[in-house]
Formats: sequence, structure tokens, C-alpha cells
Amino acid sequence: QAVMDISVQDLEPGAHKVVVWQGMPVAIQHRTADMIRALEDPALLAQLADPQSRMKQQPHEAENAHRSLRPEYGIYVTICTHLGCVPDYKDISSLPASGGFFCPCHGSQFDGAGRVLRNMPAPYNLPVPPLHFVDDHTIRLG
Ligand code: FES
Repeated sequence: QAVMDISVQDLEPGAHKVVVWQGMPVAIQHRTADMIRALEDPALLAQLADPQSRMKQQPHEAENAHRSLRPEYGIYVTICTHLGCVPDYKDISSLPASGGFFCPCHGSQFDGAGRVLRNMPAPYNLPVPPLHFVDDHTIRLG
């Protein structure tokens, strides 16, 4: 369906889940304060291929350091921007606290805000889908 409401009421800080919207996997992570801080770590920013998201793979409201409408929720379409495999959310040892997305097909790595690291096959960051918050615990995709 075009519009989909997702409850994040039970999503604990640090947890994430994946939903399918319009046939696409969408990962939703509830960030801790440490995870939010880590997204601005200079050591991480130095590893990113496109820290400014020049490809504009996000709505205007998500053009910020955490690539999200609210810093505590990261929401990304997990279709690899290389050839379309589905990256998993996992710990990536070179990333500070935040964890990130790892593509099993050719090894592209993305940080916790879906930003691709340097020298990866994927050419740009994971997209942020169109969304807004209906209330503090409900996200509407579409
Ligand atoms: Fe993800 Fe190639 S499809 S790295």
C-alpha cells in the first residue's frame, strides 16, 4: 500500500526492525544518545564517501547529520545503491558505536545513518523514504 503506519512504541532504544513498504525493506532504528553522538564523530565523518548526501537521497527535513526527521529514529530503505541487494544492520568494527549496514553481495558498508563509506562499490547513501510522525510513537511511510 502507498501509505503505511508503523508503531515504534515497543522499539527499545538501541533496537531496530525491518518492515516491507511498497515491496521495499525499510529499516527503522531507535537510536540511543551514544548512537546519535557517534554519527558526528570526526573519525566516522572522515570515512564517509558522501557525508553531505549530495545525491539527495532524503527528504529536505532529513538533510542533517543524523539523516532523519528526529535524531532518535533512523529510517532507511535498505536496498543497496550498488546493485540492489539488501544490506543487514550489524556491528561494523571500523565504525564508532553506531553500527551500520553491511551488504552481503559485494561488501558495501554504510554507517548508522545509511551513509556509504569510502571505497565501496555502492556509489551513494541509502535513501530515506518519504515519511512523517503521526504522533510520538507512530511513523507514517508514504
Ligand atoms: Fe551491495 Fe553490490 S549490491 S555491494
